[in-house]
Amino acid sequence: MPKKIAFITGGNRGLGFQTALELKDKAKVVIGSRESAQGEEAVKKLRAQGAEAEVLEFDVTQPASHQAAYNYFNSRYGRLDILVNNAGIAGGTFPGTGPEHSASSVPMALLRKVFETNFFAQVALTEALLPLVRKSPAGRIVNLSSILGSLTMHADPKSSIYDSKSFAYDASKTALNAFTVHLAYELRDTKIKVNSAHPGWVKTDMGGREATMELSEGAKTSVMLATLPDNGPTGGYFHLGQTLPW
Ligand SMILES: NC(=O)c1ccc[n+]([C@@H]2O[C@H](COP(=O)([O-])OP(=O)(O)OC[C@H]3O[C@@H](n4cnc5c(N)ncnc54)[C@H](OP(=O)(O)O)[C@@H]3O)[C@@H](O)[C@H]2O)c1
Repeated sequence: MPKKIAFITGGNRGLGFQTALELKDKAKVVIGSRESAQGEEAVKKLRAQGAEAEVLEFDVTQPASHQAAYNYFNSRYGRLDILVNNAGIAGGTFPGTGPEHSASSVPMALLRKVFETNFFAQVALTEALLPLVRKSPAGRIVNLSSILGSLTMHADPKSSIYDSKSFAYDASKTALNAFTVHLAYELRDTKIKVNSAHPGWVKTDMGGREATMELSEGAKTSVMLATLPDNGPTGGYFHLGQTLPW
């Protein structure tokens, strides 16, 4: 069976890179990278570890990038089997980095910037590539959310994230979760599965050194959702096989 074709945005480092690496036996991986030099470097590392890898210069906030990605996959492969919407930013909104995390004082420009990358751009890219995912015999769309997008957990004083409130980031991931649910509903009668992933608190540039999970563990949820069998779930919110409350 020919290898699947996977596109992983923000694949030059962190969870995106690791996801590409761990998909290597299942898919030809195309990583999106804002900086082409960093992308080339990442592709070298992926190839050295046996992956069939390519890089696409790609900024998820740029509509021209969406069109370029469509053209790339359409002309080379005529389809896209796996889309991992991984690129994301915290935008300096985490507690401890300033007042920007609070709902009462978040600067509007920051709120818009975080939503632009973590929500609007994800929706726009997915819309642009969906015609190609529809051509896959088993399309899989993975939206990199976060446990911090869970309204149920944020509202529960007993939950582990109750005191971890970063308004702009959290709300952007809640919005992304809404996209997962709505798109999965729309595509419920197709072979495409759409799910949200919480990777865990992972040691990356974003997660920081204090994070509790290693990179290899952190990519597992994305890989699992990217390679779901035909009878797998759609419209869900997962961490390492466990369902999270919305
Ligand atoms: N690490 C965690 O603990 C954790 C927990 C929950 C959820 N997540 C989510 O998992 C995803 C990956 O996180 P990470 O920890 O790997 O973060 P990271 O180490 O900061 O890497 C982020 C990646 O996204 C890319 N990116 C950012 N803005 C972009 C844009 N406009 N266009 C294209 N690419 C862009 C970055 O590219 P550059 O190198 O060019 O900046 C980089 O490749 C994110 O969506 C994040 O919210 C992470």
